Amino acid sequence: MPNNYTSLISELREKLKECKSPHDIANIKAHYLGKTGIVTNEFGKLKDASLEEKKELGKSLNILKGQMQELIALQLDNIQKTKEDNNFVDVTLPGKNISMGSRHPISITINQITSILSNHGFTSVSGIEIEDEFHNFEALNIPDTHPARDMHDTFYVSDDKLLRTHTSSVQIRSMLSNKAPLKIMTPGKVYRCDSDPTHSPMFHQIEGLYIDKNVNFCHLKGVLINFIKEFFGKDMEIRFRPSYFPFTEPSAELDIKFQGKWLEVLGCGMVHPNVLSNVKINTKQYSGFAFGLGVERLAMLKYDIVDLRMFYENDISFLSQFKGLK
Ligand code: PHE
Repeated sequence: MPNNYTSLISELREKLKECKSPHDIANIKAHYLGKTGIVTNEFGKLKDASLEEKKELGKSLNILKGQMQELIALQLDNIQKTKEDNNFVDVTLPGKNISMGSRHPISITINQITSILSNHGFTSVSGIEIEDEFHNFEALNIPDTHPARDMHDTFYVSDDKLLRTHTSSVQIRSMLSNKAPLKIMTPGKVYRCDSDPTHSPMFHQIEGLYIDKNVNFCHLKGVLINFIKEFFGKDMEIRFRPSYFPFTEPSAELDIKFQGKWLEVLGCGMVHPNVLSNVKINTKQYSGFAFGLGVERLAMLKYDIVDLRMFYENDISFLSQFKGLK
């Protein structure tokens, strides 16, 4: 075959590689083999050739045409096959499993705690997360000099606005808008400048507040002892350790024995008379107790979690272990 024919073949090969659709192929085909195509043109030259030349040229041209047709048909086939592969749906394959999500362990724990407390007669109320100093500190008898009011411990949004450091601020809001008696629980997020394996800058608390005639420390102990037993589903070794909070008097912390160590799980006490006076509740008529517990702390103890930050990493393999729990 003449040299210019072999280079036509390699040229066609290159062009076919670029083809993405049957339409591209048809264009290429017309370019070489169409009515005015290069090869057709070559056939036209035959009539002026000598008999000897005609034989040679005619043979070569037929081979060239045949090879070109073959290459074109092959590439057309390829394109059609990949198209079919891409659209191919095998309906006999098993379906894709869409796995159901599950509740977050913190939501599960909040549900468990609030459902126990609601059996004890507490009604759920929610407050606001951007608080002012009055509701978060002043009304709760927390003096200006208290370290909690420091910039290092509290996220201030402006001079007077801050991210609430505890749910105790909701006590004030509830007592101001509802008259005594009242029995409320307030689940929600709280914020402190703190971050390590057992502290996160945002965490959840649930506050309990019960104001009525003749409420005393025995009622507080009774509710909390029962609550701990119901929450863990068994008797736990616990102790009430005397403590101090500006808004309760007397105050205590409840500790649980865990792996041989006492761990603090909540603060509590009888609502300080100053707090009741701040919200215009008659301290001669009414008394009450309050407690504030850390949701993450209780969840860590119940589910044996060592690093509190795992709750916020959104690691599906960690979260899916809580599937099915309510
Ligand atoms: N507000 C306290 C804290 O965040 C907890 C607490 C609530 C203590 C109610 C006593 C009474 O640490």
